[in-house]
Amino acid sequence: MQIGTPLSPNATRVMLLGSGELGKEVIIALQRLGVEVIAVDRYENAPGHQVAHRAYTIDMTNDQALRELVAKEKPHLIVPEIEALNTSTLADIESAGIATVIPTVKAVQLTMNREGIRRLAAEELKLPTSPYAFARSEAELHAAIEAGIGYPCFIKPTMSSSGKGQSRITQASEVKTAWEYAGKGGRVNQGVVIVEGQIDFDYEITLLTVRAKNAKGDIKTYFCEPIGHVQKSGDYVESWQPQAMTAGALTESKRIAKAVTDSLGGLGLFGVELFIKGDKVWFSEVSPRPHDTGMVTMCSQRFSEFDLHARAILGLPVDVSLRETGASAVIYGQHETKSLAFEGVEAALAVPNSDIRLFGKPESFTKRRMGVALATGANTCEARSRAQLAASLVKPKIA
Ligand SMILES: Nc1ncnc2c1ncn2[C@@H]1O[C@H](COP(=O)(O)OP(=O)(O)O)[C@@H](O)[C@H]1O
Ligand SMILES: [Mg+2]
Repeated sequence: MQIGTPLSPNATRVMLLGSGELGKEVIIALQRLGVEVIAVDRYENAPGHQVAHRAYTIDMTNDQALRELVAKEKPHLIVPEIEALNTSTLADIESAGIATVIPTVKAVQLTMNREGIRRLAAEELKLPTSPYAFARSEAELHAAIEAGIGYPCFIKPTMSSSGKGQSRITQASEVKTAWEYAGKGGRVNQGVVIVEGQIDFDYEITLLTVRAKNAKGDIKTYFCEPIGHVQKSGDYVESWQPQAMTAGALTESKRIAKAVTDSLGGLGLFGVELFIKGDKVWFSEVSPRPHDTGMVTMCSQRFSEFDLHARAILGLPVDVSLRETGASAVIYGQHETKSLAFEGVEAALAVPNSDIRLFGKPESFTKRRMGVALATGANTCEARSRAQLAASLVKPKIA
Protein backbone atom coordinates (compact mmCIF):
# COMPACT_ATOMS: atom_id res chain seq x y z
CA MET A 1 0.00 0.00 0.00
CA GLN A 2 1.35 3.46 -0.86
CA ILE A 3 -0.10 6.95 -0.62
CA GLY A 4 1.04 9.41 -3.28
CA THR A 5 1.39 13.18 -3.29
CA PRO A 6 -1.91 15.08 -3.61
CA LEU A 7 -2.30 17.20 -6.75
CA SER A 8 0.47 15.32 -8.52
CA PRO A 9 0.23 12.47 -11.04
CA ASN A 10 0.87 9.82 -8.38
CA ALA A 11 -1.84 11.09 -5.99
CA THR A 12 -4.12 8.62 -4.24
CA ARG A 13 -7.53 9.90 -5.36
CA VAL A 14 -10.82 9.27 -3.58
CA MET A 15 -14.20 10.50 -4.84
CA LEU A 16 -17.05 11.00 -2.38
CA LEU A 17 -20.51 10.62 -3.89
CA GLY A 18 -22.55 12.65 -1.46
CA SER A 19 -20.76 15.28 0.60
CA GLY A 20 -23.00 16.07 3.55
CA GLU A 21 -21.88 16.31 7.16
CA LEU A 22 -20.74 12.68 7.28
CA GLY A 23 -18.89 12.95 3.97
CA LYS A 24 -17.25 16.16 5.15
CA GLU A 25 -15.70 14.36 8.11
CA VAL A 26 -14.56 11.43 5.93
CA ILE A 27 -12.92 13.97 3.60
CA ILE A 28 -11.11 15.67 6.51
CA ALA A 29 -9.87 12.26 7.69
CA LEU A 30 -8.61 11.44 4.18
CA GLN A 31 -6.99 14.86 3.81
CA ARG A 32 -5.03 14.22 6.99
CA LEU A 33 -3.64 11.05 5.42
CA GLY A 34 -2.48 12.96 2.35
CA VAL A 35 -5.19 11.73 0.00
CA GLU A 36 -6.50 13.82 -2.90
CA VAL A 37 -10.26 14.14 -2.45
CA ILE A 38 -12.99 14.98 -4.94
CA ALA A 39 -16.35 15.88 -3.36
CA VAL A 40 -19.57 15.44 -5.32
CA ASP A 41 -23.09 16.39 -4.31
CA ARG A 42 -26.39 17.33 -5.88
CA TYR A 43 -26.27 20.92 -4.60
CA GLU A 44 -23.60 23.64 -4.53
CA ASN A 45 -21.46 24.35 -1.46
CA ALA A 46 -22.38 21.12 0.31
CA PRO A 47 -20.47 20.62 3.59
CA GLY A 48 -17.90 18.28 2.00
CA HIS A 49 -17.41 20.58 -1.01
CA GLN A 50 -15.93 23.10 1.38
CA VAL A 51 -13.03 20.89 2.51
CA ALA A 52 -12.12 18.87 -0.62
CA HIS A 53 -9.47 19.46 -3.27
CA ARG A 54 -12.17 19.73 -5.93
CA ALA A 55 -15.95 19.99 -5.77
CA TYR A 56 -18.64 19.08 -8.31
CA THR A 57 -22.39 19.44 -8.39
CA ILE A 58 -24.09 16.77 -10.52
CA ASP A 59 -27.17 14.57 -10.55
CA MET A 60 -25.65 11.33 -9.26
CA THR A 61 -28.61 9.28 -10.45
CA ASN A 62 -27.72 10.31 -14.03
CA ASP A 63 -25.65 7.65 -15.80
CA GLN A 64 -23.88 9.98 -18.22
CA ALA A 65 -23.08 12.69 -15.66
CA LEU A 66 -21.55 10.13 -13.30
CA ARG A 67 -19.59 8.35 -16.03
CA GLU A 68 -18.16 11.60 -17.40
CA LEU A 69 -17.04 12.84 -14.00
CA VAL A 70 -15.33 9.54 -13.14
CA ALA A 71 -13.58 9.53 -16.54
CA LYS A 72 -12.35 13.07 -15.94
CA GLU A 73 -11.20 12.65 -12.33
CA LYS A 74 -9.97 9.04 -12.46
CA PRO A 75 -10.47 8.27 -8.73
CA HIS A 76 -8.94 5.08 -7.38
CA LEU A 77 -11.76 4.70 -4.86
CA ILE A 78 -15.39 5.79 -5.11
CA VAL A 79 -17.05 6.26 -1.71
CA PRO A 80 -20.85 6.52 -1.77
CA GLU A 81 -22.13 8.62 1.12
CA ILE A 82 -25.78 8.63 0.10
CA GLU A 83 -28.20 6.09 -1.31
CA ALA A 84 -29.63 8.10 -4.23
CA LEU A 85 -27.05 7.01 -6.79
CA ASN A 86 -27.04 5.28 -10.13
CA THR A 87 -25.72 1.98 -8.82
CA SER A 88 -25.72 0.23 -12.19
CA THR A 89 -23.33 2.90 -13.48
CA LEU A 90 -21.12 2.20 -10.46
CA ALA A 91 -21.25 -1.52 -11.21
CA ASP A 92 -20.11 -0.86 -14.82
CA ILE A 93 -17.33 1.46 -13.68
CA GLU A 94 -16.03 -1.14 -11.28
CA SER A 95 -16.27 -4.08 -13.67
CA ALA A 96 -14.40 -2.05 -16.32
CA GLY A 97 -11.57 -1.79 -13.76
CA ILE A 98 -11.79 2.02 -13.63
CA ALA A 99 -12.26 2.38 -9.86
CA THR A 100 -13.14 0.40 -6.74
CA VAL A 101 -16.52 1.09 -5.15
CA ILE A 102 -16.51 1.19 -1.32
CA PRO A 103 -17.28 -1.11 0.35
CA THR A 104 -18.62 -3.12 -2.62
CA VAL A 105 -21.11 -2.59 -5.44
CA LYS A 106 -23.24 -5.32 -3.89
CA ALA A 107 -23.43 -3.47 -0.56
CA VAL A 108 -24.34 -0.20 -2.23
CA GLN A 109 -26.99 -1.86 -4.40
CA LEU A 110 -28.61 -3.86 -1.60
CA THR A 111 -28.74 -1.03 0.94
CA MET A 112 -30.14 1.63 -1.39
CA ASN A 113 -33.43 -0.23 -1.23
CA ARG A 114 -34.98 -1.55 1.98
CA GLU A 115 -36.26 -4.58 0.08
CA GLY A 116 -32.77 -5.71 -0.94
CA ILE A 117 -31.18 -5.58 2.49
CA ARG A 118 -34.23 -6.93 4.33
CA ARG A 119 -34.50 -9.97 2.08
CA LEU A 120 -30.76 -10.60 2.41
CA ALA A 121 -30.87 -10.40 6.22
CA ALA A 122 -34.10 -12.25 6.89
CA GLU A 123 -34.45 -14.70 4.00
CA GLU A 124 -30.87 -15.48 2.98
CA LEU A 125 -28.96 -15.02 6.24
CA LYS A 126 -31.96 -16.06 8.40
CA LEU A 127 -31.33 -13.28 10.92
CA PRO A 128 -34.12 -12.18 13.25
CA THR A 129 -35.98 -9.07 11.99
CA SER A 130 -39.40 -7.52 12.59
CA PRO A 131 -42.23 -9.22 10.67
CA TYR A 132 -42.49 -7.44 7.31
CA ALA A 133 -44.17 -7.34 3.93
CA PHE A 134 -43.85 -5.22 0.80
CA ALA A 135 -46.85 -3.49 -0.73
CA ARG A 136 -47.29 -1.87 -4.12
CA SER A 137 -50.72 -0.35 -3.54
CA GLU A 138 -52.92 0.84 -0.68
CA ALA A 139 -55.01 -2.33 -1.04
CA GLU A 140 -51.92 -4.54 -0.80
CA LEU A 141 -50.83 -2.59 2.27
CA HIS A 142 -54.21 -3.17 3.96
CA ALA A 143 -54.09 -6.84 3.07
CA ALA A 144 -50.54 -7.30 4.42
CA ILE A 145 -51.44 -5.73 7.76
CA GLU A 146 -54.64 -7.80 8.04
CA ALA A 147 -52.77 -10.97 7.06
CA GLY A 148 -50.51 -10.83 10.10
CA ILE A 149 -48.34 -7.72 10.48
CA GLY A 150 -51.02 -6.14 12.69
CA TYR A 151 -50.88 -2.89 14.66
CA PRO A 152 -48.93 -0.88 15.62
CA CYS A 153 -46.80 -1.01 12.48
CA PHE A 154 -44.29 1.10 10.60
CA ILE A 155 -44.75 2.02 6.95
CA LYS A 156 -41.67 3.23 5.05
CA PRO A 157 -40.91 3.92 1.40
CA THR A 158 -38.42 1.27 0.26
CA MET A 159 -36.19 4.06 -1.04
CA SER A 160 -35.83 6.59 1.78
CA SER A 161 -33.65 7.52 4.74
CA SER A 162 -33.71 9.67 7.90
CA GLY A 163 -37.35 8.84 8.52
CA LYS A 164 -38.56 10.49 5.31
CA GLY A 165 -42.03 9.28 4.33
CA GLN A 166 -42.11 6.99 7.36
CA SER A 167 -45.10 6.64 9.68
CA ARG A 168 -46.20 4.55 12.62
CA ILE A 169 -49.88 3.69 12.65
CA THR A 170 -52.13 2.02 15.18
CA GLN A 171 -55.39 1.40 13.29
CA ALA A 172 -56.88 0.66 9.86
CA SER A 173 -58.22 4.19 9.39
CA GLU A 174 -54.63 5.49 9.21
CA VAL A 175 -53.49 3.24 6.34
CA LYS A 176 -54.56 5.64 3.60
CA THR A 177 -52.65 8.61 5.05
CA ALA A 178 -49.55 6.45 5.65
CA TRP A 179 -49.64 5.16 2.05
CA GLU A 180 -49.95 8.68 0.65
CA TYR A 181 -47.25 10.05 2.97
CA ALA A 182 -44.84 7.28 1.87
CA GLY A 183 -45.50 8.20 -1.76
CA LYS A 184 -44.54 11.81 -1.12
CA GLY A 185 -41.56 11.15 1.18
CA GLY A 186 -39.74 8.48 -0.82
CA ARG A 187 -36.56 9.37 -2.62
CA VAL A 188 -37.60 7.93 -5.91
CA ASN A 189 -41.32 7.44 -6.06
CA GLN A 190 -41.32 3.76 -6.79
CA GLY A 191 -44.68 3.23 -5.15
CA VAL A 192 -43.33 0.39 -3.01
CA VAL A 193 -43.44 0.42 0.77
CA ILE A 194 -42.24 -1.93 3.47
CA VAL A 195 -44.64 -2.47 6.36
CA GLU A 196 -43.02 -3.74 9.56
CA GLY A 197 -44.60 -4.97 12.76
CA GLN A 198 -43.46 -2.95 15.75
CA ILE A 199 -40.67 -4.44 17.84
CA ASP A 200 -41.26 -3.60 21.48
CA PHE A 201 -37.57 -3.06 22.24
CA ASP A 202 -35.94 -1.94 25.50
CA TYR A 203 -33.42 0.16 23.55
CA GLU A 204 -31.83 0.37 20.11
CA ILE A 205 -28.19 0.56 19.12
CA THR A 206 -25.87 1.19 16.23
CA LEU A 207 -23.01 -1.28 16.24
CA LEU A 208 -20.23 0.30 14.19
CA THR A 209 -18.53 -2.64 12.50
CA VAL A 210 -15.28 -2.23 10.61
CA ARG A 211 -13.88 -4.54 7.95
CA ALA A 212 -10.20 -3.63 7.77
CA LYS A 213 -6.85 -5.23 7.01
CA ASN A 214 -4.60 -6.18 9.89
CA ALA A 215 -0.83 -5.76 9.76
CA LYS A 216 -0.55 -9.05 7.82
CA GLY A 217 -3.00 -7.85 5.19
CA ASP A 218 -5.89 -10.16 6.16
CA ILE A 219 -9.37 -8.64 6.36
CA LYS A 220 -10.69 -8.77 9.94
CA THR A 221 -13.91 -7.55 11.55
CA TYR A 222 -13.71 -5.06 14.43
CA PHE A 223 -16.57 -3.78 16.61
CA CYS A 224 -16.73 -0.37 18.24
CA GLU A 225 -18.46 -0.12 21.61
CA PRO A 226 -22.26 -0.07 21.05
CA ILE A 227 -23.92 3.31 20.52
CA GLY A 228 -27.33 3.95 22.08
CA HIS A 229 -29.65 6.48 20.45
CA VAL A 230 -33.02 8.17 20.49
CA GLN A 231 -35.00 8.63 17.28
CA LYS A 232 -37.89 11.05 16.80
CA SER A 233 -40.12 10.53 13.75
CA GLY A 234 -37.46 8.21 12.34
CA ASP A 235 -34.65 10.76 12.69
CA TYR A 236 -31.81 10.59 15.20
CA VAL A 237 -31.79 13.33 17.84
CA GLU A 238 -29.34 12.02 20.43
CA SER A 239 -26.72 9.28 20.75
CA TRP A 240 -24.22 8.06 23.35
CA GLN A 241 -21.41 5.55 23.67
CA PRO A 242 -21.09 3.07 25.24
CA GLN A 243 -24.63 1.72 25.62
CA ALA A 244 -24.72 -0.75 28.54
CA MET A 245 -25.80 -4.20 27.35
CA THR A 246 -26.03 -7.71 28.74
CA ALA A 247 -23.21 -10.02 27.65
CA GLY A 248 -25.76 -12.16 25.79
CA ALA A 249 -27.21 -9.24 23.84
CA LEU A 250 -23.75 -7.96 22.91
CA THR A 251 -22.61 -11.37 21.67
CA GLU A 252 -25.78 -11.77 19.61
CA SER A 253 -25.42 -8.22 18.23
CA LYS A 254 -21.90 -8.99 17.07
CA ARG A 255 -23.00 -12.26 15.49
CA ILE A 256 -25.69 -10.46 13.49
CA ALA A 257 -23.40 -7.58 12.50
CA LYS A 258 -20.68 -10.01 11.41
CA ALA A 259 -23.10 -12.05 9.31
CA VAL A 260 -24.44 -8.98 7.50
CA THR A 261 -21.09 -7.30 6.92
CA ASP A 262 -19.42 -10.57 5.82
CA SER A 263 -22.13 -10.89 3.23
CA LEU A 264 -21.81 -7.29 2.00
CA GLY A 265 -18.01 -7.60 1.92
CA GLY A 266 -15.25 -5.14 1.00
CA LEU A 267 -13.38 -2.75 3.25
CA GLY A 268 -14.88 0.02 5.37
CA LEU A 269 -17.04 0.90 8.32
CA PHE A 270 -20.71 -0.11 8.55
CA GLY A 271 -23.45 1.13 10.91
CA VAL A 272 -25.51 -1.90 11.91
CA GLU A 273 -28.84 -0.88 13.50
CA LEU A 274 -30.25 -3.35 16.03
CA PHE A 275 -33.23 -3.48 18.38
CA ILE A 276 -32.64 -5.08 21.81
CA LYS A 277 -34.96 -6.57 24.41
CA GLY A 278 -33.23 -8.42 27.24
CA ASP A 279 -30.88 -10.85 25.48
CA LYS A 280 -32.92 -10.84 22.26
CA VAL A 281 -31.67 -8.87 19.25
CA TRP A 282 -33.35 -7.98 15.94
CA PHE A 283 -31.56 -6.68 12.85
CA SER A 284 -33.13 -3.45 11.58
CA GLU A 285 -30.94 -1.99 8.83
CA VAL A 286 -27.32 -1.23 7.91
CA SER A 287 -25.42 1.66 6.35
CA PRO A 288 -22.31 0.58 4.39
CA ARG A 289 -20.62 3.80 5.57
CA PRO A 290 -20.38 6.01 8.67
CA HIS A 291 -23.67 6.45 10.47
CA ASP A 292 -25.27 9.65 11.75
CA THR A 293 -25.61 8.30 15.30
CA GLY A 294 -21.86 7.55 15.15
CA MET A 295 -20.97 11.26 15.21
CA VAL A 296 -20.54 10.73 18.96
CA THR A 297 -17.28 8.91 18.17
CA MET A 298 -15.73 12.31 17.35
CA CYS A 299 -15.47 12.79 21.11
CA SER A 300 -15.66 9.27 22.55
CA GLN A 301 -13.21 7.17 20.55
CA ARG A 302 -9.50 7.42 19.94
CA PHE A 303 -10.35 7.41 16.22
CA SER A 304 -13.75 8.61 15.04
CA GLU A 305 -15.91 6.50 12.73
CA PHE A 306 -14.72 8.80 9.93
CA ASP A 307 -11.04 8.17 10.67
CA LEU A 308 -11.79 4.45 10.84
CA HIS A 309 -13.60 4.49 7.49
CA ALA A 310 -10.73 6.41 5.87
CA ARG A 311 -8.14 4.00 7.22
CA ALA A 312 -10.11 0.88 6.39
CA ILE A 313 -10.83 1.83 2.77
CA LEU A 314 -7.15 2.66 2.20
CA GLY A 315 -6.22 -0.81 3.47
CA LEU A 316 -4.71 0.53 6.70
CA PRO A 317 -5.11 -1.02 10.17
CA VAL A 318 -7.71 0.37 12.61
CA ASP A 319 -7.97 0.95 16.35
CA VAL A 320 -11.60 0.95 17.50
CA SER A 321 -10.93 1.63 21.17
CA LEU A 322 -13.16 3.84 23.27
CA ARG A 323 -11.41 6.76 24.93
CA GLU A 324 -14.16 8.20 27.08
CA THR A 325 -17.91 7.99 27.59
CA GLY A 326 -19.52 10.48 25.21
CA ALA A 327 -22.77 11.76 23.76
CA SER A 328 -24.06 13.77 20.80
CA ALA A 329 -27.17 15.94 20.40
CA VAL A 330 -28.47 17.30 17.10
CA ILE A 331 -28.76 21.04 16.35
CA TYR A 332 -31.68 21.67 13.98
CA GLY A 333 -32.05 24.70 11.72
CA GLN A 334 -35.37 25.78 13.28
CA HIS A 335 -35.85 28.23 10.37
CA GLU A 336 -36.39 28.06 6.62
CA THR A 337 -33.67 30.32 5.25
CA LYS A 338 -30.55 30.65 3.14
CA SER A 339 -28.92 32.98 5.65
CA LEU A 340 -28.77 31.18 8.95
CA ALA A 341 -26.47 32.35 11.73
CA PHE A 342 -25.69 30.72 15.05
CA GLU A 343 -25.63 32.60 18.30
CA GLY A 344 -24.77 31.21 21.71
CA VAL A 345 -21.78 29.22 20.52
CA GLU A 346 -19.69 30.71 23.32
CA ALA A 347 -22.24 29.54 25.91
CA ALA A 348 -22.39 26.07 24.34
CA LEU A 349 -18.62 25.69 24.40
CA ALA A 350 -18.50 26.81 28.02
CA VAL A 351 -20.31 23.59 28.96
CA PRO A 352 -17.63 21.31 30.48
CA ASN A 353 -16.09 18.76 28.06
CA SER A 354 -18.20 19.99 25.16
CA ASP A 355 -17.52 20.58 21.48
CA ILE A 356 -19.67 21.39 18.46
CA ARG A 357 -19.68 20.88 14.73
CA LEU A 358 -21.56 23.32 12.50
CA PHE A 359 -21.89 21.69 9.11
CA GLY A 360 -21.99 24.84 6.95
CA LYS A 361 -25.07 23.79 4.93
CA PRO A 362 -26.07 26.60 2.58
CA GLU A 363 -29.79 26.32 3.30
CA SER A 364 -31.65 25.70 6.53
CA PHE A 365 -35.00 23.97 7.08
CA THR A 366 -36.84 23.75 10.38
CA LYS A 367 -35.99 20.08 10.80
CA ARG A 368 -32.71 20.04 8.87
CA ARG A 369 -29.69 18.87 10.84
CA MET A 370 -27.33 21.86 10.78
CA GLY A 371 -24.90 20.88 13.49
CA VAL A 372 -24.23 18.59 16.40
CA ALA A 373 -23.07 19.09 19.98
CA LEU A 374 -20.66 16.59 21.51
CA ALA A 375 -19.67 16.06 25.14
CA THR A 376 -17.89 13.57 27.31
CA GLY A 377 -18.66 12.75 30.94
CA ALA A 378 -18.05 10.36 33.78
CA ASN A 379 -21.07 8.31 32.63
CA THR A 380 -23.64 8.38 29.80
CA CYS A 381 -26.05 10.36 31.94
CA GLU A 382 -23.57 13.20 32.46
CA ALA A 383 -22.35 13.12 28.84
CA ARG A 384 -25.94 13.20 27.52
CA SER A 385 -27.02 16.09 29.67
CA ARG A 386 -23.93 18.10 28.70
CA ALA A 387 -24.44 17.42 24.98
CA GLN A 388 -28.13 18.34 25.22
CA LEU A 389 -27.33 21.50 27.13
CA ALA A 390 -24.65 22.53 24.63
CA ALA A 391 -27.02 21.86 21.69
CA SER A 392 -29.80 23.86 23.32
CA LEU A 393 -27.50 26.85 23.89
CA VAL A 394 -26.74 27.16 20.17
CA LYS A 395 -29.44 29.49 18.82
CA PRO A 396 -29.99 29.45 15.05
CA LYS A 397 -31.22 32.85 13.81
CA ILE A 398 -32.06 34.36 10.46
CA ALA A 399 -29.38 37.01 9.99
N1 LIG B 1 -40.27 -2.31 13.16
C1 LIG B 1 -39.96 -1.35 14.04
N2 LIG B 1 -40.23 -1.49 15.35
C2 LIG B 1 -39.92 -0.52 16.24
N3 LIG B 1 -39.36 0.64 15.91
C3 LIG B 1 -39.07 0.87 14.62
C4 LIG B 1 -39.35 -0.11 13.61
N4 LIG B 1 -38.95 0.38 12.42
C5 LIG B 1 -38.46 1.61 12.68
N5 LIG B 1 -38.52 1.92 13.98
C6 LIG B 1 -38.05 3.17 14.61
O1 LIG B 1 -37.86 4.16 13.61
C7 LIG B 1 -36.46 4.49 13.46
C8 LIG B 1 -36.12 4.73 11.99
O2 LIG B 1 -36.37 3.56 11.22
P1 LIG B 1 -35.34 3.06 10.13
O3 LIG B 1 -35.87 1.82 9.54
O4 LIG B 1 -34.00 2.98 10.76
O5 LIG B 1 -35.42 4.22 9.05
P2 LIG B 1 -34.30 5.16 8.43
O6 LIG B 1 -33.70 4.37 7.31
O7 LIG B 1 -35.04 6.33 7.93
O8 LIG B 1 -33.29 5.42 9.51
C9 LIG B 1 -35.73 3.31 14.09
O9 LIG B 1 -34.43 3.67 14.50
C10 LIG B 1 -36.68 2.96 15.24
O10 LIG B 1 -36.54 3.89 16.30
MG1 LIG C 1 -32.19 3.93 10.54
